[in-house]
Amino acid sequence: MLKGKVAVVTGAAMGIGKATTTILLQNGAKVALLDVNEAAGKSLKASLDDEYGQENTVFLQCNVESDKDVKDAFQSAVETFGGIDIVCNNAGVLNEADWEKSLSINLAGVIRVVYVALEHMNKLTGGRGGVVVNTASVAGLQAAASFPVYSATKFGVVGFTRSMAAASAASGYGVRFNALCPAGVQTDFFTDMKVKMGPFSHLYYLVEKAVEKGILE
Ligand SMILES: NC(=O)c1ccc[n+]([C@@H]2O[C@H](COP(=O)([O-])OP(=O)(O)OC[C@H]3O[C@@H](n4cnc5c(N)ncnc54)[C@H](O)[C@@H]3O)[C@@H](O)[C@H]2O)c1
Repeated sequence: MLKGKVAVVTGAAMGIGKATTTILLQNGAKVALLDVNEAAGKSLKASLDDEYGQENTVFLQCNVESDKDVKDAFQSAVETFGGIDIVCNNAGVLNEADWEKSLSINLAGVIRVVYVALEHMNKLTGGRGGVVVNTASVAGLQAAASFPVYSATKFGVVGFTRSMAAASAASGYGVRFNALCPAGVQTDFFTDMKVKMGPFSHLYYLVEKAVEKGILE
């Protein structure tokens, strides 16, 4: 179904990014795996080589906070696979203790990746169009008492995605923009959650309740 398509996945080494990468490969796409975690990225690439063939993936170490990393990674992906059709803009963290880091990765990182992706995908500048999927969260649609800054970044991702979809349609970029808003998914995201909640760690019971019920309060 995705034969001949090339995807770039950020935060590909673990969790939802890893699952996304696997599904893209199962459907015939070639995938550039971008992640700041080199050890996890290389180890995933090695296991994907065995199952899907080494020519179908490339691992590129990339911190979405860095302009240079993102530009270099997209350039390498294009040189390796001949273009880009799909971008899964998935890298994200929850860190209320270091809230500026959350803004930098979850919101500025998503914007940075979209702008670099458009340099390669925009039909108006020689790209072949395609689709960008930004990972927001259910916390980007409703209040989250236990992690307000995370929620703010994800509201930002939802707003940016809706606005870029409108900008693309009005301009003729040929790029579709969508946001994913998952609820709880059991990944490393929840490791040390109480510590990562910083000044809101006393509200950890709300997270436990949300995980139990599958909804935020
Ligand atoms: N797990 C959930 O319940 C849940 C719910 C809603 C939304 N999300 C969102 O889904 C996305 C993926 O989360 P996950 O649960 O798979 O988390 P995870 O912690 O399992 O994986 C995140 C991946 O992103 C990478 N990463 C972190 N910072 C990075 C950076 N600066 N540059 C590049 N890569 C970086 C990590 O190395 C890791 O491989 C995030 O945007 C998260 O906010 C997760």
